[in-house]
Amino acid sequence: MIVLGIETSCDETGVALYDGARGLRAESLHSQIALHAAYGGVVPELASRDHIRLLVPLIERTLNEAQADLADLDAIAYTAGPGLAGALLVGASVASALARSQHLPAYPVHHLEGHLLSPFLASDPPSFPFVALLVSGGHSQFMAVEGLGRYRLLGETVDDAVGEAFDKTAQLLGLPYPGGPALSQLARQGDPERFHLPRPLLQSGDLQLSFSGLKTAVAQRVRRQSPADYPDIAAAFEAAVVDVLTHKTRLALRMTGYTQLVVAGGVGANQPLRQALRAQLEPAGIRVTFPPAHLCTDNGAMIAYAGYCHLQNPALWTRYRDSLSPGFT
Ligand code: KG4
Ligand code: ZN
Repeated sequence: MIVLGIETSCDETGVALYDGARGLRAESLHSQIALHAAYGGVVPELASRDHIRLLVPLIERTLNEAQADLADLDAIAYTAGPGLAGALLVGASVASALARSQHLPAYPVHHLEGHLLSPFLASDPPSFPFVALLVSGGHSQFMAVEGLGRYRLLGETVDDAVGEAFDKTAQLLGLPYPGGPALSQLARQGDPERFHLPRPLLQSGDLQLSFSGLKTAVAQRVRRQSPADYPDIAAAFEAAVVDVLTHKTRLALRMTGYTQLVVAGGVGANQPLRQALRAQLEPAGIRVTFPPAHLCTDNGAMIAYAGYCHLQNPALWTRYRDSLSPGFT
């Protein structure tokens, strides 16, 4: 079974070919970072137009790289949501038109399920059940993943997503968009102990998260300090985020009794978070899995793989498709 995956939910145009027998055969990704950088964030209209410009050439390139053509495909999977409406529409339209022309099924995929399943593309994939820490620019949540399509929300942010907090804090520190990697790099030169920033909801005893107060604390601190202090502020911010996420992850594992953790989403690329989770959990016998670093952020491979999983499980697929609400896209 061979599935073409298409991701256009935000500012990455991603295309990949997943083959059940051979694994990931080809992937292409175009990032719109340069396009949006001048605006300090994603401009939805520009994002849609860029997806229109590049999606078909990327599909052609991916097929060429895999030495495959449309006739070899068994299905086309595309991100149906959540995401920017116009951007999603480009992927959905191209996927549906291609599928219709080739008499193939077109599989809508939930973007977060793509992230959740992305660690299965690693060389040391997890097994079910596991706790997933999903940390991206739009979402921050803990899920109990009992099996394919069996996802239970354990807790999530009550305000900003953690990636959003990274991006907004980076902006306060004068760093370019997207702020997460830039802030993390600046933090490497800073002293995380010099300023103490709040750890919101650390002791709440549940799996709710909150990051907007942390961002406000940074804004107040920035007003009082000079740019020479920014590395220390960045390090203090990152330390606070890592503290909260590791503390709540341990709680999620205790609450479920599961012994495996999967970390997915763009913030999963953050090295101090990866190191802290490994250092705290592995000695306690918890297996920690991350997607390959380049598949932490949005990409077509995770969508192709999620589509492949559904293609393999038709009964589950019907339930899944029916659960995608009309307002979802
Ligand atoms: O999963 P993703 O590509 O897109 C969404 O679905 O939102 O995540 C993007 C987010 C951005 O907020 C970006 O700043 C953050 O992930 N990010 C990072 C790092 N790499 C990406 N945050 C912290 N440290 C990183 N190394
Ligand atoms: Zn994402």
